[in-house]
Amino acid sequence: METKDFIARERQYLAKMYKPLPIVLNRGEGIWLWDTDGKKYMDFLGAYSAVSFGHLNARIKKAMIDQLDLLDVPARAFHTERLGEFGEMIAKLTGLDMVQPMNSGAEAVETAIKAARRWGHDVKKIPDGKQRIIASKGNFHGRTTTIIGFSSDADYRRGFGPFDNGFDLVPFGDAEALEAAITPETCAFITEPLQGEGGILVAPDGWLKRVQEICKKHDILLILDEVQTGMGRTGANFYYQHEIDKPDGLCLGKALGGGIYPVSAFVATKEVMEVFDPGSHGSTFGGNPVAAAVAIESMKILQEEKLADRAKENGAYLLRKLKGINSPMVKEVRGRGLLVGMEIYPDKAPARAVCDKLLEKGLLSKDTHGTVVRFAPPLIIEKEHLDWAVQTVSEALSEMT
Ligand SMILES: Cc1ncc(COP(=O)(O)O)c(C=O)c1O
Repeated sequence: METKDFIARERQYLAKMYKPLPIVLNRGEGIWLWDTDGKKYMDFLGAYSAVSFGHLNARIKKAMIDQLDLLDVPARAFHTERLGEFGEMIAKLTGLDMVQPMNSGAEAVETAIKAARRWGHDVKKIPDGKQRIIASKGNFHGRTTTIIGFSSDADYRRGFGPFDNGFDLVPFGDAEALEAAITPETCAFITEPLQGEGGILVAPDGWLKRVQEICKKHDILLILDEVQTGMGRTGANFYYQHEIDKPDGLCLGKALGGGIYPVSAFVATKEVMEVFDPGSHGSTFGGNPVAAAVAIESMKILQEEKLADRAKENGAYLLRKLKGINSPMVKEVRGRGLLVGMEIYPDKAPARAVCDKLLEKGLLSKDTHGTVVRFAPPLIIEKEHLDWAVQTVSEALSEMT
């Protein structure tokens, strides 16, 4: 079969929720991907920040295969040897106490919402059904009906109502607006610390610190969604470490599964996590031995290879170099660590057209919100590769101008 046949078959049989770039991939290694015609590409998207350790990272692959020689999925009806190790490692890495393993990022967020509401009822004594959660405008926390119910993006919501109305929205990065929105029924503030899907939006310095003070003052939980920013991506193991000691609850996913296996987690203080009792939540695959083995190895690599430090140094280098590109098409380049967005003036070209051009030149990226080209390469990337990528972006922009 040729490229066009693979694409035609996908188009015929798969729901059209995505608008993939027109290549068909069949191999990956490290920061490289190959298509069915054998053309090689540099992966500058990293599966939306999931492939932080490189494609088919040898250590993660081995950890998974070794585990598959022993035990796969017995479900949480029984104890297993790896689950406690997984929990202990996440707790120590985050500074939090307890973990609820799930599979997708959205499930970690759903778990956080349930935890916040039950904490609001059991601990803060808010009448059940009255608990409110504040979130940020422009948020992206996943695709479940509860989550899209508090999205401010009309496309994510259209035709999917009715929605839950237990959420209030405040502008991202505005601590005073958060304080003004708190009522006696508010149990939590949930936010990404840096908005990824929203267009790689970085909050003002000091915002998170101020947010934590406000949450403490009003006795509401601070829950951070670090599904995208966690695991070293922004130059710290977790984004919050740039400003605060720890939140009350934390959502992790994507890179936790090493880019190989879906693993997510809601991590929290003991007080928050103890609101769950048997029967109140669960997941058949969540925390299975394969997931645990993969996540344990991912966390080991993150620490042993000091990937957060690498992301910090290489991210600053990438940002500086991209900012140095002199193109009338570029409105702004922004980001933190190896999570960088290049905003294109909408009257010059859609960001998607830039991605198409980069694809032709062998660099894979993806647009978000029509105007921003998102760059999130694997954290193992070397400076020489960043140089090539920046050169390629510069050439693409000048050819398009
Ligand atoms: C911040 C954030 N939260 C949650 C999710 C949802 O994760 P998943 O697609 O694994 O459900 C994403 C996915 O992009 C995300 O960026």
